[in-house]
Amino acid sequence: MKTLGEFIVEKQLDFPDASGSLSALLGAIRLAAKVVNREINKAGLVDIIGSAGGENVQGEDQQKLDVYANEKFKAAMEARGEVCGVASEEEEEFIAFQGTKSKNGKYIMLMDPLDGSSNIDVNVSVGTIFSIYKRISPIGSEVTLEDFLQPGYKQIAAGYVIYGSSTMLVYTTGNGVHGFTLDPSIGVFCLSHQDLKMPTQGKIYSINEGNYIKFPLGVKRYLKYCQEQVPEENRPYTSRYIGSLVSDFHRNLLKGGIYMYPTTASAPEGKLRLLYECNPIAFLAEQAGGKASDGERRIMDIEPTELHQRSPYFVGSTEMVEKVEQFLSECD
Ligand code: AHG
Ligand code: MN
Ligand code: MN
Ligand code: MN
Repeated sequence: MKTLGEFIVEKQLDFPDASGSLSALLGAIRLAAKVVNREINKAGLVDIIGSAGGENVQGEDQQKLDVYANEKFKAAMEARGEVCGVASEEEEEFIAFQGTKSKNGKYIMLMDPLDGSSNIDVNVSVGTIFSIYKRISPIGSEVTLEDFLQPGYKQIAAGYVIYGSSTMLVYTTGNGVHGFTLDPSIGVFCLSHQDLKMPTQGKIYSINEGNYIKFPLGVKRYLKYCQEQVPEENRPYTSRYIGSLVSDFHRNLLKGGIYMYPTTASAPEGKLRLLYECNPIAFLAEQAGGKASDGERRIMDIEPTELHQRSPYFVGSTEMVEKVEQFLSECD
């Protein structure tokens, strides 16, 4: 049995010049994940489900657990002092940590503290997504917006926690994707999925088909392609949609498949947020041999201009993402 803590230390030894700062940062994420997991497990027993009464910058109704997870991850990052600032789905502006240790931190973090909020009340898997970059501003100074507006290919690390039938932490630092399952009896994440690789072709497609009428023509045609009877190509594919990006991606990562959130008339830029949803999941997908696209461009090549910027999103098995890109290009 290897624990996440041991695994991180082992990886750090491969880089003799490493300061241990990234390891400490990942340790803080691991701690916050356990705290949030404990709370989510109690949903239904204590008063932590339902709306918190406020709205976030995206105009979404904030859930109590959105707020709770946001506070816990923020606090863990600030206490550890390895990041100089954090940006979150639940905060309009980025947060600049003021402590001396934090100001000397080399990294910044962007996060979706609780992904799949609409699933909390019904006991379906939710997640936390994180994305780590090296800061651009000088060490010792206060973090700036520019530190957060970096393209995805510059990510140092990214990952998610899935609070599901078991709780897992899945992350990459650019050397493959590794998954750890929480053993609740000892409160330790144990290595369970080393060097995950995504099948290049799967047979699951995940999309909110309720928005069908508003999809671009290329997506409509791709969906018909997924549903056609072509047994030698394993079609029709299977439709699976949980409504939480982390859970839908996690399933497709293990089994092969594609997750899509295209533009719609009511969401002309798409719904998902580039910096703390699309990019970190794209980094994981690519590290697992998959692909992430906005329909024509590589997600991680997009130069961000805003903290809460949205993007259409197609992520998963490479051949499936390329197929939907082909349909979209033919319908331009
Ligand atoms: P969040 O709960 O962090 O706001 O994210 C919700 C996102 C994503 O997780 C999910 O896949 C998608 O929104 C679902 O949207 P629809 O309900 O429109 O399908
Ligand atoms: Mn939300
Ligand atoms: Mn989300
Ligand atoms: Mn969220």
